[in-house]
Amino acid sequence: MTDVRYGREQPSRLSRSIESDLVKRIAVALAAGVVLVLALGGALYAETGYDAWLRYGPLSYAAAKQYQTLPASVVVLGDSSILDSAQKELIRGLRGMLGRTLRANSSLPAEPGIILARLAELRAVSPALKPRAELRADGFWITSVRLRGQACLVITSPTDRGVLYGVFALLRKIALGTPTAKLDEIQNPSAPLRWVNDWDNRNGTIERGYAGASIFFENGSVRADLGRVRDYARLLASLGINGCVINNVNADPKTLEDGFLPQLARIAEAFRPWGVRIGLSANFASPKVMGGLGTFDPLDPSVGAWWQHKVEGIYTQIPDFGGFVMKADSEGQLGPSTYGRSPADAANVIARALKPHGGVLFYRAFVYNHHLDWRNPKNDRAKAAYDIFHPLDGKFDDNVVLQIKYGPIDFQVREPVSPLFGGLAHTNTAIELQITQEYTGQQRHLCFLVPLWKEVLDFNLHAKELATPVKEIVEGKTFHRPMGGFVGVANVGSDLNWLGNPLAMANLYGFGRLAWNPNLSANAIVEEWTRLTFGKQPLVVQTISAMQLASWKVYESYTGPLGLQTLTNILGSHYGPGIDSSEQNGWGQWHRADHEGVGMDRTVATGTGFVGQYSPAVAGMYASPKTTPDDLLLFFHHVPYSYVLHSGKTVIQEIYDLHYDGAEHARQFVKHWETLRGYLDEERYAEILARLKYQAGHAIVWRDAVCNWFRRESGIADARGRVGHHPDRVEAENMQLNGYRPMDVVPWENASGGKGIECAAPEKECTAEFRSDRPAGWYEIDVQYFDQNNGESRFRVLVNQQLVDEWRAGDHLPSNQPGGDTSTRRWITGIALRAGDEIRIEGTPDGEERAPLDYVEVRAMEAESGSTSK
Ligand code: GCU
Repeated sequence: MTDVRYGREQPSRLSRSIESDLVKRIAVALAAGVVLVLALGGALYAETGYDAWLRYGPLSYAAAKQYQTLPASVVVLGDSSILDSAQKELIRGLRGMLGRTLRANSSLPAEPGIILARLAELRAVSPALKPRAELRADGFWITSVRLRGQACLVITSPTDRGVLYGVFALLRKIALGTPTAKLDEIQNPSAPLRWVNDWDNRNGTIERGYAGASIFFENGSVRADLGRVRDYARLLASLGINGCVINNVNADPKTLEDGFLPQLARIAEAFRPWGVRIGLSANFASPKVMGGLGTFDPLDPSVGAWWQHKVEGIYTQIPDFGGFVMKADSEGQLGPSTYGRSPADAANVIARALKPHGGVLFYRAFVYNHHLDWRNPKNDRAKAAYDIFHPLDGKFDDNVVLQIKYGPIDFQVREPVSPLFGGLAHTNTAIELQITQEYTGQQRHLCFLVPLWKEVLDFNLHAKELATPVKEIVEGKTFHRPMGGFVGVANVGSDLNWLGNPLAMANLYGFGRLAWNPNLSANAIVEEWTRLTFGKQPLVVQTISAMQLASWKVYESYTGPLGLQTLTNILGSHYGPGIDSSEQNGWGQWHRADHEGVGMDRTVATGTGFVGQYSPAVAGMYASPKTTPDDLLLFFHHVPYSYVLHSGKTVIQEIYDLHYDGAEHARQFVKHWETLRGYLDEERYAEILARLKYQAGHAIVWRDAVCNWFRRESGIADARGRVGHHPDRVEAENMQLNGYRPMDVVPWENASGGKGIECAAPEKECTAEFRSDRPAGWYEIDVQYFDQNNGESRFRVLVNQQLVDEWRAGDHLPSNQPGGDTSTRRWITGIALRAGDEIRIEGTPDGEERAPLDYVEVRAMEAESGSTSK
């Protein structure tokens, strides 16, 4: 956005790329004359988000017409619960979209049919049928052929699962309006392992889950009703996901207790008809802490025998058990280092127990010392995974897969690709991506991660002479590995819409689609998802797709741009700003900001040497600030604030500009969303609008915290005069207070002026008031308050005694303190003010929450003032 108020000449990098795309797409949709609500037909029925992309909403008459020639029967050859799901799903989908209920058959009828069968069964009735290209396990072939003289649409695969995937693919085509009359399509998955991990605890909580309680567990047991699990399995299957780990990666050893296995078997049963195998996070110390042995040393024969016995017990209960994921020697989880053994020793002993049953061991490469000495400039957490695992290349059994997070730190908003992918020519690897938005706004902020994942997957590590993008390494192609794949940390919860925000489901969808085919573009994925989730109305598709595509960079720009990592509170919630929290402690997420400069020198020449873990071509790029892309500069280099970026701006000015631009874009998301009123069901429209408004307010909290912090640290003012200068703002502590008292907020940058106010007494109403000095006109009164999770205070806003708004601070943000996690904005628009009007806020505390306030901003409304506000 060009900021009119400050007479800015040049929009920033973020603005240029995002704005033009967003505005262009929406303009095209509007210009196409697509704004007729009537054209939506029956699409405006109530929606909860539960059906996600499998809504199967009725197609318009015109769209449905081309499918009139589809056969009237669906035939399954063979007998399995997966094929049964496939048949039922096809009937369900076509009934929803076309209003036709297919006849279900189990043998070839004397009429045209849609035939669902494994290739082997199909060849038994039609030996001549042969796919024109290779069909791998879980791949499918959809083709129109004549069978016994009848025109049939065949969906086949070497596996039942592949048939099911073919059905979902056909339904997707129909939902998107793709012709199906002359289909002859073969699709193979990119890699055999396409898993999600859900970090659920037996007590029903979810590690880094932001959408309610566990769908698997409750009060220490598996839930009695597993209906949600079945529906989750169906969602996963629709994307081709074939495995799901169901418990916290910080594994409770009790998970593997014999008495618990029958309960876990019930979950496996719920997944089975959808071709999803379950896996478990296993605690490496289990043989000792739960199994009664005196040791968990992987080289001790009794330990090997224990694992073998345990695994046999699991397969007795769960014959299609997929395997374990293992987090060992990491963040307090015990591991082989206790006995001086290597991760390969650890992995192999368990892998050998799994091997006869076809199970896989995912060993996580997320191993590092979280007690690093921050005073030593050579220490670097980023180096840990490569230092530990590269020397072990070739030492892992062939059913071990190293599960590697995409970057060397921890799901930050931007990191370079982990160099470990390039350093394992003789080891199976899988990439770990995070669908749950732990460091990227926890589903309260819109942050579509597919563009990030695409950058990672397409990144050429130059591990061999020809191009070696990460996607091909984990597919097993580059190093000719038998196994490999994709793991997404999903953490869906029991909120009706699964992830707490309907828009966040694009990340689950996108993960699955990329795991199936990492060559799909972010654009194609988001358009497909939007059409399936919200319908085909062009304005809706264009607007939502454009917002999603812009959102990662917007989030990055108002949090931690330039490779600073997210800058969130790493010692607590990982949610709001906490710039200092990563410094001067052993966790190693340092950004090394001081009065002179910022960034971490990771070069070989003068820094930690991390850059040397890449191949020469990549290392060459990161070795110098001149050749390092701006968006990773501070990850690799420590530079003065006055260092001039490729963008032509100094580092400090770019930090300021990106934060202001990012927050402004977040505000624009609200405006773009509001253009969709009437084009969507009211439920999802309102729910998402509330989230976007919240985000726009929190983006300002982020902007101010980061800008003020760097302003103080660097001593360099914002060339455009915005940072620390808020002419529209009235600090709560400067208002006339009655019952309220000022308080310090810690850290200081998370409240305007470092201070707020709170009611002095727990149960008594308090007031804060001031007189507006603004000329007569229309204004927005924005109230910045703190919404803690230990009370539900009430607020009322009065202008000259007239009530203009009231609300309860009843959200469940991740803190019980006033600060960066809880600071929330109430946008009160359309208020007519004259100079001298009295604005009063009344707060009623509740519990521990003392109706805390930060400030009020009185801003001229745009249409009247003709300017954009900051
Ligand atoms: C992050 C996350 C932890 C999680 C860990 C992991 O650090 O905050 O909750 O356990 O990743 O991936 O193991």
